[in-house]
Amino acid sequence: MRALVINCSPVRTGATAEIGRIVSEELAGRYEVKFVCIDDYAFSFCKGCRRCHVTAECVRQDDVDILMKEFELADVIVCVSPSYWADVPGQFKAFIDRCTPWCNTHEPHKTIPSGKKGYAIALRTGPNIAECNRIIGTIEHFYGHLEVECCGGLGLTSVEYKENVEPRTQEIKEFCAKI
Ligand SMILES: Cc1cc2nc3c(=O)[nH]c(=O)nc-3n(C[C@H](O)[C@H](O)[C@H](O)COP(=O)(O)O)c2cc1C
Repeated sequence: MRALVINCSPVRTGATAEIGRIVSEELAGRYEVKFVCIDDYAFSFCKGCRRCHVTAECVRQDDVDILMKEFELADVIVCVSPSYWADVPGQFKAFIDRCTPWCNTHEPHKTIPSGKKGYAIALRTGPNIAECNRIIGTIEHFYGHLEVECCGGLGLTSVEYKENVEPRTQEIKEFCAKI
């Protein structure tokens, strides 16, 4: 069984990366884990041309296909996202937009194999959990249209830097135990 863990932040050494590292370590006993950062991939914005609604192909060919290949191979997907202005970082949103060829609201559309399970972890500096839940909602909306089953979310407030993650390790490990 394979797990794909995505650092949805462009920061490779921050709090999101640290949570992704803990998740990857926890899952490593039960899954073959691939831990990637959204910034490992170079891709353009969706132009909104809707050509993919007719062809199921994007007019742009870039690293979106490489990251989607990882989705195809994974049994479990864990997206770890910080709040940037109360939503997912722009780099990750740009990736979601570019996944429109895989969106099940139009025919034809591309598909990834069925039976995958998706999890979402959201973190933010502020104290209100509602903002984390909104980000989890964005990720679950994305999973839903790829027909990835939404299996759980974890919100972590009052986290800004890598150092703030250490006291939350137990919460993260308990979440991982359910994956
Ligand atoms: C551009 C930017 C926007 C942010 N916006 C918010 C916000 O709206 N609410 C919040 O609670 N934290 C916000 N934060 C703080 C991040 O959610 C928090 O620092 C998180 O731990 C960042 O993780 P990272 O360094 O791994 O990307 C923002 C941080 C950045 C860089």
